[in-house]
Amino acid sequence: MTVGFPRLGIISALHQEQAGLIDLMHNKSTLTRGMREYTSGRLENTDTVCVLSRIGKVAAAATAATLIEHFDVTHVVFTGVAGATDESVQVGDIVVADALVQHDMNASPLFPRFEIPLLGQSHFASDLSLTEQLLSAAQSFVEQDLGNVLSEQDRMQFRLERPRVHRGLIGSGDEFIHNRDRRELLRRQFPDLLAVEMEGGAVAQVCFEFGVPFAVIRTISDGANEGAPHDFMQFIERVASRYAFAIVRRLCG
Ligand code: ADE
Repeated sequence: MTVGFPRLGIISALHQEQAGLIDLMHNKSTLTRGMREYTSGRLENTDTVCVLSRIGKVAAAATAATLIEHFDVTHVVFTGVAGATDESVQVGDIVVADALVQHDMNASPLFPRFEIPLLGQSHFASDLSLTEQLLSAAQSFVEQDLGNVLSEQDRMQFRLERPRVHRGLIGSGDEFIHNRDRRELLRRQFPDLLAVEMEGGAVAQVCFEFGVPFAVIRTISDGANEGAPHDFMQFIERVASRYAFAIVRRLCG
């Protein structure tokens, strides 16, 4: 695949969502800034900077701003896991965001619900080209790599027979959604919401404000319901890094 980004920043919240990528890098150097380790180097054919943001919107925003201001990345990709909020989205599926919203933003009645104060918008569109490259990498991963990177046992346990790749709205908030009623309320507030996580909308806002193209790709770890804490832990330990590793490798190759 041809790549069109001079310097790509790759953010994940947790090490399980990015494991293996740093080992793959050549000419590495690591710098610590604001309690995060930024590793720069060559990943396949792409100049990259990999970093773990930790969890939540503030952590992700600080990390994205540092990547842009200090490490001069020209593009940003966030890769990690998410909870499904749509019936058509199952554990093991991949969601690539076409837009992100911060579902916990509420400065009403001063500003409309969900609108980012003084920006005049609630939704942030991801970069079309980067998003399409991620969709294509994800589709190739599902069709060609899945059988090689996961054991039969893990595929059976997580029912990863034929994962699907979706494109749509992802919602972010400083809240782990693990309750059916909460999930349904979010669905009523955002009828086209496919998945929830805790960082993407913050990275989207920072990238928007700096004029840096960004995209977000998430593998579904749980159904944002009562089983979510257990499902999330299992998925993150056994499956998440395999997806991220293979998809980002395809993107950068
Ligand atoms: N990331 C993965 N699963 C999630 C959930 N259920 N809620 C918020 N963030 C998540």
